[in-house]
Amino acid sequence: MEKLNKLNKIFNKIYYNLFIENFKGKIQNNFPENYYRWDLIKYLIKKNGYKDYLEIGCDQNQLFSKVKIDNKIGVDPVSGGNIRKTSDAFFSSNKDKFDIIFIDGLHTYVQVKKDIINSVKCLKENGIILVHDCMPDSLAKQAVPRFKMKWNGDVWKAIVDLRQNEELDIYTCEIDEGIGIIKKSKNSDILKLNKSINSLKFKDYFNNYRNYLRVIDINEFKEKF
Ligand SMILES: C[S@@+](CC[C@H](N)C(=O)[O-])C[C@H]1O[C@@H](n2cnc3c(N)ncnc32)[C@H](O)[C@@H]1O
Repeated sequence: MEKLNKLNKIFNKIYYNLFIENFKGKIQNNFPENYYRWDLIKYLIKKNGYKDYLEIGCDQNQLFSKVKIDNKIGVDPVSGGNIRKTSDAFFSSNKDKFDIIFIDGLHTYVQVKKDIINSVKCLKENGIILVHDCMPDSLAKQAVPRFKMKWNGDVWKAIVDLRQNEELDIYTCEIDEGIGIIKKSKNSDILKLNKSINSLKFKDYFNNYRNYLRVIDINEFKEKF
């Protein structure tokens, strides 16, 4: 995981609060304490007979080592997984197709959107894309540039942006920092935004996140998927 030095943190915090946003609201996310990303993945593999798994961003294999499946590829430029590359470098030469893709690399809007679009291109029919860290509870946890160790980044913006895409059907499951659920099928609930994506602030997220992300709980998830 990226190390942040103290001076960097202080500088980024002051910069963010002065020039980008300073908003104190805090969200009480309702993440269950006994259901995590590996449980969701295990459920999907069993239910759909999935064989091929791709994870973008593996860190210390906290998740990668728990995924039991026939074939798994883990991409990370620094540690974990089994391919030492950035996601961009991996996707630029990849010819394989996957049933289930877990995106958890660099947590910025631009990179996550790119990772999702590249994942859609190598997703098998009936496959699913999962995106970690979609539900930050505070401005600090989603600020880019980063100034907090526990960091979701602005992954949420990639979900909000693609909720407007007609060809992707997207929900967000309220577990484990918020997991985006993306299927390659007609969008059954196109998000209508009244602002441009680049002008969205955390305050907008705070006031609208259930609608923006189309939040469902784990029971609703299991009814749908
Ligand atoms: C939050 S950690 C992943 C945690 C892991 N997936 C889990 O479930 O616990 C993020 C990882 O993304 C990696 N990363 C950063 N930039 C990346 C990129 N451009 N492509 C792929 N991985 C990246 C980092 O090296 C880091 O190990």
